[in-house]
Amino acid sequence: MKAYLISGSPNTEGSTITVLKLLGNELCHVGFETQIEILDRCKIGFCRGCKKCESDLKCIQRDDMGRITENIKNADLLVLASPSYWGDITAQMKVFIDRCTPLCEYINDRSMPTDKIGISVSIRAGTRESENIHLLECFEHYFNHLKIKPVSRFSLTQVNNRIDLKNKKGELLKLKDIAANAADEMKNLKLKNNKTMNSQRHESTF
Ligand SMILES: Cc1cc2nc3c(=O)[nH]c(=O)nc-3n(C[C@H](O)[C@H](O)[C@H](O)COP(=O)(O)O)c2cc1C
Repeated sequence: MKAYLISGSPNTEGSTITVLKLLGNELCHVGFETQIEILDRCKIGFCRGCKKCESDLKCIQRDDMGRITENIKNADLLVLASPSYWGDITAQMKVFIDRCTPLCEYINDRSMPTDKIGISVSIRAGTRESENIHLLECFEHYFNHLKIKPVSRFSLTQVNNRIDLKNKKGELLKLKDIAANAADEMKNLKLKNNKTMNSQRHESTF
């Protein structure tokens, strides 16, 4: 089982990457191979809005999105994480999402298999949880368009710096359950897909 964890934060030692690493460790314990991507370190051009992908099923730009798209296709679990910037996902994460348009079921219904799961992570300095919910819903909107089943959300408030995670030990313990749940969801999804394939094979022999 492969997990691909994508951070939208430009901070390579900040709170978002720290939470992703902790989640990555828990995912390793339940049998996932993990890979973390920091979008800020990647070369990703803005979507040009040319809509060439609607006919070509791929983007005209040649940059890191080609590699990232392949990683998404090969992953069983996709984790998207962003700190709140002005009450929204970061610019890095928005550009990444825009550039995933060739994977959108609206463009190409066959681009993505239906055996993937997704986890959303949002972190903010302020106190209101509702701001984080907006980010989590943005990720789940993305997952739905890629036929990825959203299975868990993880949200932290009152985290302005990595040091603030020291006050969040109780919440961070939930990452263990989130990882265990992801492993269960993955196994159930694979079982369900195998059953469907077997029954289709059975039907085609008659
Ligand atoms: C440009 C900018 C905008 C921000 N906007 C918000 C905001 O609207 N609401 C909020 O709660 N925190 C906001 N923050 C704080 C970050 O969400 C917070 O510091 C977070 O922990 C940063 O994560 P990181 O360490 O991974 O970069 C903002 C931070 C920056 C740099």
